[in-house]
This record gives sequence, C-alpha cells and structure tokens, in this order.
Amino acid sequence: MTLPSIATAVVQWQASHGRNHLPWQQTRDPYRVWLSEIMLQQTQVSTVLGYYQRFLDAFPDVASLAAAPQDAVLALWSGLGYYSRARNLHKCAQAVMELWGGAFPRIAQELATLPGIGRSTAGAISSFCFSERVPILDANVRRVLTRVLAFDADLAQSRNERQLWEFAQQLCPTQNLQEAMPRYTQGMMDLGASICTPRKPSCLVCPLHGECRAGKAGNPENYPVRTRKLKRSAESWWLLIAMDEQGQVWLQKRPQAGIWAGLYSPPVFESEDQLQQYVQRNWSGADAAKWTHLPAFLHVLTHKDLHLHPVIVPVQKAHAAMVSEAEAACWAGPSAWAEMGLPAPVRKLLDAQLS
Ligand code: ADE
Repeated sequence: MTLPSIATAVVQWQASHGRNHLPWQQTRDPYRVWLSEIMLQQTQVSTVLGYYQRFLDAFPDVASLAAAPQDAVLALWSGLGYYSRARNLHKCAQAVMELWGGAFPRIAQELATLPGIGRSTAGAISSFCFSERVPILDANVRRVLTRVLAFDADLAQSRNERQLWEFAQQLCPTQNLQEAMPRYTQGMMDLGASICTPRKPSCLVCPLHGECRAGKAGNPENYPVRTRKLKRSAESWWLLIAMDEQGQVWLQKRPQAGIWAGLYSPPVFESEDQLQQYVQRNWSGADAAKWTHLPAFLHVLTHKDLHLHPVIVPVQKAHAAMVSEAEAACWAGPSAWAEMGLPAPVRKLLDAQLS
C-alpha cells in the first residue's frame, strides 16, 4: 500500500463499517460539531448523546450560549466532569460573537486560537464542516498512526510529536476532499475506538492490515511510546453539609480556578479541625452530638485522588452568624440543587441524603 491508498482504505472502511448515524454527523454546522467534539473529548459517545441534545435545546446557537450566565452552562454540564471544558466552551462562544461576528472561522489554524480548541479539535471541526485537508491527532488517532508507521520515537518529546503531526498531514486524502476529509477524520476516530484498541487490537479485520508495520511485526501494543508518566497526587477534603430544618444545604460557588471551579459545593476544608472551627464561628449553637460523619469515599480526578469526608451538621438557618454575608453562596433544597452545577459526587451525596 502506498500513502494515498491508506487514506482511501480508511475512507472506504468508514463508509461501510464506521459510525454514520450520530446526531452531530447529520450536520455541518460548526456550532453543533464543535459542541460535540468538546463533549466527546473525555466522555463516551453513549453518555454524550443525552447531554448533547439537552444542551442544544437550551442553547440552539452560539449567540444564545454566549449570552447565557456561566452558572446555566455549568448546570447543563453537571455530571460530564472536566468542567474546564464547560468554562472554555462559554468563553469560546463569547469570543466567536465578539471577534468573529458570530460565525466560527473556517480554517483550523484560526479555530485553534479560540479558548478550549486545541490543534486536534480544530482539525476535527474544519475537516468535518469545511473539508479542510488537515489531520487530527487525538489519543485514538495517535495510536493508529504510530502503529501503522511503527513510529517508536518518544512522544513525550515535542519534536517527535511534531514529526508525527507531519506524517499525519501527509497521510490525509488527496482527492475528492469535499467528501473524503470528513469521512477520513471520522474513520481514523472509529478505527482507534473499535479496531485499533489499546489492548488486543483486532488486526485481522483492520482495513490497514496489509500496511501496518506494527501489526506485521506482531507488537502493536508497544505503540505509542511515551516515557513521561502522569504524576498523581492525593488530597483529603472534609465537606461540611450544613443542613437546616427544611433540608436545605449551604452551598458555595467554588473559585474560578482549581478543582470543581465555578461549580457549587458544600464548604470544603483540609482538616476536620478547620471544619469544626467554621461551624463554631457561624452556628455557635450547633450541637456536636447531632453531627453525622459519613464514611469517607474516593473520588478520582485526572491528576489527583480526592478522599472525601462528608460531615452532616444540622443547623438553624436563623441562627447563622455570617453565612448571609458570603457573596456567591446560597441555601438550596433538592429542587434548587437539581438545577445547579454541582460536582457529580456532591450531587450523589446530597441526593442520597433524601432517601
Ligand atoms: N470522539 C471524538 N470525536 C468523535 C466523533 N466525531 N465521533 C465519535 N467519537 C468521537
């Protein structure tokens, strides 16, 4: 197989074996394609389907998204995780309105200047919507390409990553780009998701079987090569669930940076001591005998293990000393918090208190 025939094989395979009925494939509207690509960055297709439709119902176009309050955007994202995606989505919509007159730019290089759109996402949007001849290189496609080429240079080094982008560019279709580019991009994603899997890839049914150097050598699982390992850390957080007589809880808006940025959460403390002091300051009458220490549980983030220690403290709202002075905080009952942007483990925890 020659280089052009790799693209042809992927395009043909995509038409007969790829995914062709996902909602965001029925359009070339960059708003919809962009939204789907951002949602799909860290989340499975099956989960994205419901969120995608609800999001579009609330914000049918980039203008309505740009005009929405950040809380409304985060609320619709609640449960999808990786909330920086939602904050950047909102910023990006505003940038499209302010800098691009409400129309997404049509070339990848310009798309990549917008918040939350990296080079690969820019390539996906411009190849899907405008048939631009640019590659994508997300984790799935990186795996397919390094295997096909037996590219064994360490991708932790940026010059090797750049080299792989070069190869990816050269391998793009060269003919009939209008139809071939969207199919090729989707085909590479589909191959990585269904055939060229991290473990036990299905080489025998792969359309690139005849070409794949790693497949022929029998060692596809050795690719891609990347030396730098993700450094993980751990933290323990005590969550103060201050609950009033009506079952309302005290929620604070988290700072705009860091874990759960911009979401609503019960107050977080790094020690039980700090939590106790806060309660004493604000609800001096809170009877320690009525506190419930729920079992600690683990919440896994990309770079961090969070050990969460929820403490339920019955309080009398009327006796609160300073809570009303805090700016971005509120009392919320179940019907209110259902509509708010809460981190998934917090929502689970609060919902469990009702049953
Ligand atoms: N993951 C990222 N983009 C995707 C797409 N367009 N279809 C399916 N999975 C994806």
